[in-house]
Amino acid sequence: MLEIRGLSKSFRSAAGTSVQVLRDINFTVRPGQIAGLVGESGSGKSTVIRCALGLQRPDSGSVSYDGIDVHAARGPQLMRFRREVQPVFQDPYASLNPRMTVERLIDEGLRVHRLLPDAAARRDRVVELLEMVGLDASAMPRHPRAFSGGQRQRIAIARALAIGPRLLICDEPVSALDVSVQAQVINLLQEMQERLNLAILFVAHDLAVVRHICSEVAVLERGVIVESGKSDEVLGTSQYPYTRALLEAVPIADPLEARRRRCARLSVAASPGGNGYE
Ligand SMILES: Nc1ncnc2c1ncn2[C@@H]1O[C@H](COP(=O)(O)OP(=O)(O)OP(=O)(O)O)[C@@H](O)[C@H]1O
Ligand SMILES: [Mg+2]
Repeated sequence: MLEIRGLSKSFRSAAGTSVQVLRDINFTVRPGQIAGLVGESGSGKSTVIRCALGLQRPDSGSVSYDGIDVHAARGPQLMRFRREVQPVFQDPYASLNPRMTVERLIDEGLRVHRLLPDAAARRDRVVELLEMVGLDASAMPRHPRAFSGGQRQRIAIARALAIGPRLLICDEPVSALDVSVQAQVINLLQEMQERLNLAILFVAHDLAVVRHICSEVAVLERGVIVESGKSDEVLGTSQYPYTRALLEAVPIADPLEARRRRCARLSVAASPGGNGYE
């Protein structure tokens, strides 16, 4: 469904030199699948996503969606891509226009794509979407500021779902939210995936969540995919030091165990030549 092939990308640094951020990335999302992309901060996850959404042009390589070359598409093909592939970003405080009412935010896509010309039908559709994400019609005239972070992300998800996408591309969709509501939003995404048979490309830091909801995962280290496969296997039994370090960094409920791991990491990082991963 989404096929990323040989993707490379570099940026020009402030000093004018070229810094390669992605190197020969290959990644596939199949219909109806939740595929995960994990890696430490700065490893290039959002750059992969921006290239996949056609927001950033790679230096080389290709992104194709259901046969559409995302970076060459024009006209009806581009419209189809924009209808069928929807992003959900990390920060619902930044991604929702604060001046728009919830009704406008959710029905914007319906208007742009002229999917429901009848205003009453559009309104019904907005109510249906709000209920689907656990809100109700009373949200419609209000602005994003009236809602908590978790509710805003529900609104962002309703907005993404409005025009019937087949693929959601989620860049750390819960990491800006209170821990207490993260699981609810993850459950909502999983429920929507099942109900609507969506495919999801899911970028996250929290490997326990990735293991729970993603069938396959790729691990990104400094712009290179260093491991990929079934998430149970990659995240369960990986012997690769970088992946193990990501797993060790997952917050855990047991404070003593958390302390033990922290001390172990610190002593490695402090040892001569230690890079913190061995
Ligand atoms: N527009 C840009 N210009 C220059 N450098 C950039 C640009 N966008 C990203 N980078 C650099 O590319 C690298 C990868 O960034 P990216 O945002 O893709 O990482 P990430 O894995 O999403 O990190 P995080 O987990 O913190 O969101 C970083 O070193 C970043 O500084
Ligand atoms: Mg990012």
